[in-house]
This record gives sequence, structure tokens and C-alpha cells, in this order.
Amino acid sequence: MSEPLKIAVAGLGTVGAGTLALLAQNADLVAQRCGRRIDVVAVSARTRERDRGVDLSGVDWYDDAAAMAREADADVVVELIGGEDGPAKAVCEAALTAGRHVVSANKAMLAHHGAALARQAEAAGVGLHYEAAVAGGIPVVKALREGLAGNRIRRIYGILNGTCNYILTAMRDSGRRFEDVLAEAQKHGYAEADPSTDVDGIDTAHKLALLASLAFGTELDFAAVHVEGIRHISPLDIVFADELGYRIKLLGSARMTAHGLEQRVHPCLVPTDTPIAQVNGVFNALVASGDFVDDTVYEGRGAGGGPTASAVVADLIDIARGRRTPVFGVPVEALEKAEPAPMQRHQGAYYLRLMVRDQPGVIADLAAAFRDEQVSIESLLQHGQSPTEAVPVVLTTHQTEEARMQRAMAIISGIEAVVEAPRLIRIEEL
Ligand SMILES: NC(=O)c1ccc[n+]([C@@H]2O[C@H](COP(=O)([O-])OP(=O)(O)OC[C@H]3O[C@@H](n4cnc5c(N)ncnc54)[C@H](OP(=O)(O)O)[C@@H]3O)[C@@H](O)[C@H]2O)c1
Repeated sequence: MSEPLKIAVAGLGTVGAGTLALLAQNADLVAQRCGRRIDVVAVSARTRERDRGVDLSGVDWYDDAAAMAREADADVVVELIGGEDGPAKAVCEAALTAGRHVVSANKAMLAHHGAALARQAEAAGVGLHYEAAVAGGIPVVKALREGLAGNRIRRIYGILNGTCNYILTAMRDSGRRFEDVLAEAQKHGYAEADPSTDVDGIDTAHKLALLASLAFGTELDFAAVHVEGIRHISPLDIVFADELGYRIKLLGSARMTAHGLEQRVHPCLVPTDTPIAQVNGVFNALVASGDFVDDTVYEGRGAGGGPTASAVVADLIDIARGRRTPVFGVPVEALEKAEPAPMQRHQGAYYLRLMVRDQPGVIADLAAAFRDEQVSIESLLQHGQSPTEAVPVVLTTHQTEEARMQRAMAIISGIEAVVEAPRLIRIEEL
């Protein structure tokens, strides 16, 4: 057997401790598959005293993770600290400067600094691996970069945040409001104390930006992702969506259009009979469509110590085997600069819910707003009648342009009988 691959691990939380546990439990199997052992030689975290449930005897401890990345006798530095900048980025830069491979699960850092780090890795002739940063245990980076490498990718879309999918699933199952389900998710540890990165769609956008670069061979462009979260989804919308034959999911989608690269994260109505509609709870899924392979679907656990460790170790095994693949599928210099497609040019169908005082002429006013913007209505639902209270009216449209829909909404918001801000959810044709 060849020399062991020596690794230094920065961060011993959920993913760090999970990675060490996997490497210990499956050490022989991993060694057999790589033709060499993977040995943990150094670790770093904030608190040395904390019991991590893993054996750290014989492993060097560093209080300063960047110093470890510079000085430890390691071939690979595994960054599992997290955070867009700060210590995580310092660790990766120090490791690359020292000519060590880097494995990271840090989508926030990579979405913002991936191009610079990839350049640094290329210059140093080492790898920058990040399978664990997108969809946890599901090997979607490998699927796009290697398995589908012969295809021109037409489109990718998926559920990339388990917290949001858990919340939307629980809202549908129980009929409860977003705030109540979020509070319960926080209690059970499925949502962070500050949930905004998840529920406002930012985490999904980080992952989408990475996948879009891989899928389309384009420069990472996180700033160009259109991002909306799920805070405004109400139980009423979930019930109406069900009635119309849809589920509501937070999707990240990217495709090349005539107007440029479209990268979108927002709640969508997806037809109930599609694979993505059936992905529930904390599970993630990605659909990638290639010109020769057509649709491919990947589903599994997108977070948690075990699944994420599985992805980290897959990257370590690639390094141990001596496999080299460009960070984003092609050398950084060869990545193309894509024009971002303006959201106003997005073409799609729409679901619109209005709270309306039931008075003569309202429906005619709504119809006029759509007629003026040449938006064609597909269906109209109204439940209940009340002389005193507003009732929900739900409209779905045929395919139209986002700009037209926004202008129609502006007119509708001004109709006196419409008592709340209209709720608009895009319908995704899958
Ligand atoms: N959790 C998941 O399911 C999951 C899934 C996919 C990707 N990820 C990504 O994986 C990364 C780690 O996530 P996690 O959930 O494992 O986080 P976590 O449980 O909060 O663990 C973070 C670890 O980093 C250590 N740390 C913090 N600041 C440090 C510093 N300055 N120097 C050295 N160590 C430091 C902490 O030390 P102490 O333990 O001493 O406090 C802790 O061990 C993040 O980028 C995250 O986005 C996580």
C-alpha cells in the first residue's frame, strides 16, 4: 500500500465530527478503495475540552486553524468551520498557499470567493473540492462535473435547503402557519436560531450559483441570483395549490435563455405528479437535464453529520486516488462570462391570490387589468362568500412575461376592493 494521505481538519462540529467518525469506522474500506490509508494528523476547533465523540489521541491539536493549515504535516486541509469570510477563508487561503489540497463544505464562502480560491488552487497545482457544500450527501457536484460531462446542460432545478422543505412539508401536513412551524423546527434543531439564511433563500442561492457555474461552464455569479424566500407562504396558498394539483416548493433553478443565464430561487407551484413534488421533509433533490441524457434526478439527505461526511470523504478518496478535475469543470480562465437574464424577462405561468371584498364589478376590474397587460387567465377560484369579510380569489395565468405580470399586479393592488397585498407564486413547468 502507498503512503497514507495525511489530513488536517479545521472544525469539529456536526460535519467535522461526522467526518472523523466515518474515517474511523470505515477506515479499512476507505483504505482498500484508495489503495492507501487516510490518516487524520491534526485538528482545530474553538474549544479543546469539548467531547466530540471521536478519538483524538495521537492527533495534533491547533488553537489557530490557519496556523494548522500552514504548518501541519498534512497533504489536505479540510475546512469545516463555516462562514463566508473570517477563519474559514483564512484556513483555505493558507492551505492553498502552502500547496495543500483543500476540501470544504462551505457553500457561503465558495459562492462568494470560489473563483479566487479556484485560481489559487490551480496556480498551486492542488485540488479544491466541495461536494459536501451542495445537497449534503447527494453527489450532485460529481454528477454535473463528471457523470454528465458529455452533455450540454439545458436546465437544473432542485430543492437544495432541507430546512425550507421541512417547513413547507410540515405546513401542508398540519395546516399550521409558517411562524409556528418555524418555531417548532428551531426547537427540534432543524432550523437555526437565526433562520434567515435558510428561509430567505440565501443558502439555496449559494448552492445554485455553484451548480450553475458547473452546469453551464460560466463564471460564478452569486450576485445575479434572483432570491425570494418562503416567509410569505400561507396555509391558504398551500390549500389552493393542492386543489389546483400543485405542491409549493422552494426551488433553485438555472437555465440559459435567449436573454442570458437565468438563476432563480423562489417558492414555486410544482405539479403534484412530478418527482420534485414528492420530495418531502428535510430531503433535497436535484433534476439536471442534458441534451443527450434528458432528465436525471438525484435525491437524498442534504444535511446532517453522516450524509455530509459521506460527501467530504468522497472528495478525500478522489484526492487519495490522485484524481484531478478542474474545480468548476473547466479551468477558471475558460469559464465564460454569462449575461444575467433580467427577471423581468422571465417567461412563466403565475398563481395569484387576492383577498377581495365581495362586491359587484370586482372580477370585471381584475379581468380588465389582465386584459390591458395581455395576460391570459387560465383559471379562477373563489371560495366562500361574505357580505362583510374579504374572501380569497385565486387566479392562475397562462405563460406570460414577468414584467407584464408585475404591471398587472400593480394595477390590481390599487383596486379598492382588494384589501391585502396580492400574493404571487410562480408556477414552474417541469
Ligand atoms: N451541518 C450540516 O448538515 C451541513 C451540511 C452541509 C454543509 N455544511 C457546512 O459545513 C460547515 C460546518 O458546518 P457544521 O454544521 O459542522 O458547523 P458547526 O457544527 O457549527 O461546527 C463548526 C465548527 O467550527 C469550529 N470553529 C469555529 N470557529 C473556529 C475557528 N476560528 N477556528 C477553528 N475552529 C472553529 C467550531 O468549534 P467548537 O466546536 O469548539 O465551537 C466547530 O467545531 C459549514 O460551512 C456548513 O455550511 C453543514
